[in-house]
Amino acid sequence: MPFIVFEGLDGSGKSSLMTALEKELVSHTTRVMRTREPGGTPLGDEIRNMILRTEGAAPTPRTELLLYEASRAQHVDLVIRPALQKNQWVLCDRFTASSVAFQASGRKISEEWVERLNEFATDGVNPDLTVLLDLSVEESRRRRNYRESFAGNKEDRIESEADSFHERVRNSFLRQAEQNRQKWLVLDAGKTPDQLLQQLLTHLRGLRWLSL
Ligand code: TYD
Repeated sequence: MPFIVFEGLDGSGKSSLMTALEKELVSHTTRVMRTREPGGTPLGDEIRNMILRTEGAAPTPRTELLLYEASRAQHVDLVIRPALQKNQWVLCDRFTASSVAFQASGRKISEEWVERLNEFATDGVNPDLTVLLDLSVEESRRRRNYRESFAGNKEDRIESEADSFHERVRNSFLRQAEQNRQKWLVLDAGKTPDQLLQQLLTHLRGLRWLSL
């Protein structure tokens, strides 16, 4: 069954699109496992808190990368691989491409190291498709500020990085998509939720993963 990852800057609408796709799949009796990184397992959720909290000691860039990879290994072994073996579709909010974008391009760790650690953590379990919701840094910041003032969401440690960091992250996602067009779908996150869902469904039908 397909393993689909959703990537993009914070505020790009990954969760809404994942919810809409999940609803569509479930209404056609497809079995779906929805999950996220960092997290997706009890230990992964503890690691998520250690990485993203703004109080207490912050991990250095290499430690941060290893924490994301530790969460990923646990997630692959306990959630993603078993779900795929049970013929479930797996929809995952962020995966290896985020480590390339945030830790290699954002934090300036060598991409070669990030890729080697990704390979170790995933142990051969790779997405069949990565959907990138592309958004400008300006719009991402606007949406995050809105969430903060109206929903009371406080920025986490990564979100509170400078715009130049987020520019590098965005460019990395676009470059990764360009380098592997067969396995990436780039959507304009400025489109309406329904337009995004329809574009995604059309793509999945084109891949013959869906006949609805
Ligand atoms: P996410 O849950 O997508 O945050 P939000 O709900 O605010 O969109 O991801 C948490 C943060 O972790 C996000 O800022 C991206 C970052 N991240 C990395 O830096 N590297 C990684 O490998 C992953 C998976 C996430």
